[in-house]
Amino acid sequence: MTTASALARLLKPVAGLPPAISIADVADRLLTPEHKAFLSLPIVDAAGRPLGLVSRTTLQDIFMQRFGRDLRGRHPVSEVMNPAPLTVSLDTSLEEAAKQITGQLQYPITEDFILVDGEGLYRGLGTVLDLLKAMEARIAQRNQVLRKALVDLKESQTQLVQSEKMASLGQMVAGVAHELNTPLGYVKNNVQLLRELSAPLFVLAEAQAALADCLSDPACDEARLALALDTAASARDNAAPELLVEDLTQLFSDTLYGLEQIGELVVGLKDFARLDRAMSEEVDLNECVRSALVIARNSIKDKAEAVLQLGELPRIPCAPSQINQVLLNLFTNAAQAIDGFGQIVVKTWADEAAVFLSVQDSGRGMPPPVLARIFDPFFTTKPVGQGTGLGLSISFKIIQDHGGLIRVASEPGRGTRFLIRLPRPQPAALATALQRSA
Ligand SMILES: Nc1ncnc2c1ncn2[C@@H]1O[C@H](COP(=O)(O)OP(=O)(O)OP(=O)(O)O)[C@@H](O)[C@H]1O
Ligand SMILES: [Mg+2]
Repeated sequence: MTTASALARLLKPVAGLPPAISIADVADRLLTPEHKAFLSLPIVDAAGRPLGLVSRTTLQDIFMQRFGRDLRGRHPVSEVMNPAPLTVSLDTSLEEAAKQITGQLQYPITEDFILVDGEGLYRGLGTVLDLLKAMEARIAQRNQVLRKALVDLKESQTQLVQSEKMASLGQMVAGVAHELNTPLGYVKNNVQLLRELSAPLFVLAEAQAALADCLSDPACDEARLALALDTAASARDNAAPELLVEDLTQLFSDTLYGLEQIGELVVGLKDFARLDRAMSEEVDLNECVRSALVIARNSIKDKAEAVLQLGELPRIPCAPSQINQVLLNLFTNAAQAIDGFGQIVVKTWADEAAVFLSVQDSGRGMPPPVLARIFDPFFTTKPVGQGTGLGLSISFKIIQDHGGLIRVASEPGRGTRFLIRLPRPQPAALATALQRSA
């Protein structure tokens, strides 16, 4: 359906009346059932051009006057018609027609509007009420489309958040893999060394077992005993167990340390990647800081020293995986803003109403035009392919969804400080929640 035909559907095929028709005849016509729905009737010349509209109210005014019908009923209607009625061309769109008509409407509404074709010839009448109804239907239809678009948008936003998370995870997995490599490398070396060092011990144990067998065997002659003694003595010299004790102890403790480091990274990765998005958990923000730092360690370590000033915090309900995502972005942003080697200070504290976290770096800082846009989606100053520019806009949304605030202060050449405030559940709210659940 084209927009022009939408207007054509509103057209009522009312016949145009000649200008010479009398006022009384038009009044009679308006009283017939077929014209009952109209506020006015059209006057059209012989060529089909609309000349004007005669409204019901004008006629009523005449007939309500004393002897009105007798005095003026025989006069041609052209005397009392409105020669400049609302006229709309049929090829006008519904929206445009509504704009034109509502723009010129007089209140109270006493006239319909005339519909003309491309040549300006009269085609029929339209009523304002029909036009408004059609517009209302169209708006409802649009609303539905918009509502659907909103749902789609929300869905793609969720996907965007998820893919940003996957991208940052991917980046971090590479970092963590690198991080795992160091302890893994020396654990492997140590184990190889332990194997080499322990081989003569097995030889010694075997020689000593053979000697013990010989000693407890009455059939073992002197020559065999001498050989067993010899073999055991040289195996002992070769193994030198008294010298090995220190080396082995050291190797075992180094290996254990390496395994602990690997374990710590694995736990960090697991904590970081927690898939639960529920807001119900009681979370210690300091744990999030530590777990995000383990994950970010590889991107930070060559750029900055991470200084932790973590205060004692009450547990708060939040989605830890989302908070981790925010922290990871703040840490990597900070590291990326540092030229040479600097510092990233992470501070946490709390008051009665909220838990606070600040991340301050000694990096480049930002000039005001950059600062003004950092929370915009896709805003990045990083080279193409390096930053999506979604990190902070997603962080903003996550903190907002938690009922919190994220603020930033920055000075070019001096560094940047992000501050996050997450609300603590209030005793009053808690009491109401408890009452409700009781
Ligand atoms: N600590 C900071 N110091 C200086 N500039 C920063 C800092 N944090 C953010 N910015 C600026 O804000 C921009 C937007 O940051 P955001 O985290 O949203 O995206 P990004 O880091 O560029 O890309 P992505 O997060 O996808 O890697 C950055 O490109 C950078 O210009
Ligand atoms: Mg970023």
